Amino acid sequence: MRIITSIEEMEREVAQHREAKSSIGFVPTMGYLHEGHLTLIHTARKENDIVIASIFVNPLQFGPNEDFDSYPRDFERDEQLARNNGVDILFYPNVNDMYKPDFSFQIKVIDKVDVLCGKKREGHFDGVATVLIKLFNITRPNRVYFGMKDAQQVAIVTSVIEDFNFPIELVPVSTVREEDGLAKSSRNVYLTEQERQEAPNLYYGLKMARSLIEDGERNPNIIRNKVIEHIANHTSGEIDYVEVLSYPELKEQKEVFGKIIIAVAVKFTKARLIDNITFVV
Ligand code: PAJ
Repeated sequence: MRIITSIEEMEREVAQHREAKSSIGFVPTMGYLHEGHLTLIHTARKENDIVIASIFVNPLQFGPNEDFDSYPRDFERDEQLARNNGVDILFYPNVNDMYKPDFSFQIKVIDKVDVLCGKKREGHFDGVATVLIKLFNITRPNRVYFGMKDAQQVAIVTSVIEDFNFPIELVPVSTVREEDGLAKSSRNVYLTEQERQEAPNLYYGLKMARSLIEDGERNPNIIRNKVIEHIANHTSGEIDYVEVLSYPELKEQKEVFGKIIIAVAVKFTKARLIDNITFVV
């Protein structure tokens, strides 16, 4: 595995692989790798000649009161995991190279951001879109791999690819969970022991909502309130949102219909957790 920190070196490396007609799979991450990330890497490994993963904690997607400084980082561990799981090139750029002081542009996402995390984290998806446009241009992949744990991110990146004409296929990968159902996340390390016990209830609430729909319930408000009730009764966290929307359009519906997402965000003492399920009604 090669570790590359320089953008120019990365571009030279990619040019060689493109010249050789090798297919490139790219897995962008912010590091502190866990099985969720590794599943994206394994999927990319199966489908491409060359696998590039990036580790970059992107300051642009963190709000002023968010956890940029305390976001967990452990490059040595990540490097080992990447090496042992089939990454060919680990791209680890530094922030001053990615964002030069004379950076002249601001990308603004205007659709699919008035709901879920977009509503709660102003500017977050502008930062995600900006860094991904840069990373896609630097790594020039044929396929990119994103986890459905961040389903709104998948919906928005699909639009980035379409709207900016990237010749890239987005491969969505199902959420990887702990045995008790908690979605794997780099932020889970910040849960207290009690919060860790409670946290699977985000998923149980979502599963309960799916059963309600399977039993015939179609009113999104009733479904939403049941999830709120479940999470409020079974966790000490503060509910940030529970929403039931069409997917990937992320629009409200009068009656649930077609492909939908039920998504939650809950704030615990030191970690804000998100989870969702998508399915066809
Ligand atoms: P990060 O949170 O590190 O996640 C990197 C990728 O791993 C994302 O596509 C995310 O959806 C996926 N992932 C995280 N947990 C997962 C799980 N439990 N199961 C399956 N996939 C999971 O998402 C980001 O970084 C950033 O926004 C990024 C895209 C790198 C842009 O900065």
